[in-house]
Amino acid sequence: MKSFSIRSCSGGLKGTVALLGDKSIAHRALIISAITPARTTIDNFPANEDCISTLNAFIKLGIAIRHNSSGRVTVFGKGLLGLREPKHAIFAGESGTTLRLLLGVLAGQNFTAKLTAAKSLSLRPIMRVNLPLRMMGARLTSGQRTADSGHREEYPPLTITGGNVRAITYKMPVASAQVKSAILLAALYAPGTTQVIEPVKTRDHTERMLALFGADIKRATNKVVIKGGKELVSPGRIYIPADISSASFFIVAASIIPGSRIVIRNVSLNPTRTGVLSVLKRMGADINVSDVGRDIYEPMGDIVVRSSKLKGTVIRRKEIPSLIDELPILMVAACFALGKTIFEGAGELRVKETDRIKSMTENLAKMGAQIKIIKSENIIIGGTGSLAGGKVSSFGDHRTAMSMVIAGLLASGATSVDDITCIKKSFPQFLTVLQQLFI
Ligand code: S3P
Repeated sequence: MKSFSIRSCSGGLKGTVALLGDKSIAHRALIISAITPARTTIDNFPANEDCISTLNAFIKLGIAIRHNSSGRVTVFGKGLLGLREPKHAIFAGESGTTLRLLLGVLAGQNFTAKLTAAKSLSLRPIMRVNLPLRMMGARLTSGQRTADSGHREEYPPLTITGGNVRAITYKMPVASAQVKSAILLAALYAPGTTQVIEPVKTRDHTERMLALFGADIKRATNKVVIKGGKELVSPGRIYIPADISSASFFIVAASIIPGSRIVIRNVSLNPTRTGVLSVLKRMGADINVSDVGRDIYEPMGDIVVRSSKLKGTVIRRKEIPSLIDELPILMVAACFALGKTIFEGAGELRVKETDRIKSMTENLAKMGAQIKIIKSENIIIGGTGSLAGGKVSSFGDHRTAMSMVIAGLLASGATSVDDITCIKKSFPQFLTVLQQLFI
């Protein structure tokens, strides 16, 4: 358990940084390349623990993958039915995206596979994926118990037997890109047309990646229609734009620390992920985006941030999916804004790597923030413009850890964040990049 101490910083953040590729896009690039009968080269691949879990899973499923130290991954895909029945259980580590998207692919395979998960992922609900995959014909068994809400829930480990999947029309009860993606991947194996209807549009990286690989897929506002039964075609090379979720820690820090000016290159600007930029701009942040890659499969551009004075805002329920992973760092920003910031309908945070409503509000309250939680999913932060350093915890969650390091940088006095090794899950270079911006 490595803890990390940080002091409030004088001088602003300055400089230009390039970050590794977006974690969500990288998972999809690997998975879809593995089930395409061709070689695909992926550049700017982020070798974080989650993406390595996906890479190792496909090696176990018989796919040859070459990974070099400069962030290039070459996948020798074998087609929709080219995966090999694994001899042993596949371990998804702490990666929810690996587990959930893999289930979609395994639903189409004519074999049985067992999937196991590390501690916190074993506590995260999986019934939301199991239900539609069962409707499509997959046979799934998993751990079961009563969740805190009082409902029966399912949890990893799981055993799945796939094959003979059928197309469905599915109205999703929760807004989850992971659930949508599992269904779309399973639908590749189903003759006929599968339709997925979302309550609110979630990140559409799977749809974009499938379109890039020639799938017959059509998208309307909250609906995706896909025709299965046909092999995919590799585009040959894919470049993964930088991760906007990783960038958001520096965007918030530079917005608040006076005298800052930073540039982050080639960041993913997918509109289903840029909620953090819209909210910070509404709060008065000085953010400029230059669009440099409009016609590639995923939009990307450079982000320039200068310090400014922030004011409170209301983040509506329908915006939540577009900034779900940035809510912890936005809660830190809210403490430094003038006036109240209200986060409406943030309940999905309770089923992330840890309960992030609890982890963030307990930590920030320890540092003197004024916080109220209403109906367990709405958070009100009364911005005071300051935090006081203190002892806080990562709760074993990477995004809580990184948000609290930034909170410590902005707070008066010294802060220590316990157990920060978890940041390797998504962004092992976080502290190095932060240091670069102070030189
Ligand atoms: C992800 C989707 C989100 C997000 C997670 C990554 C993805 O989860 O929180 O970090 O890559 O599809 P949900 O779709 O379950 O909300």
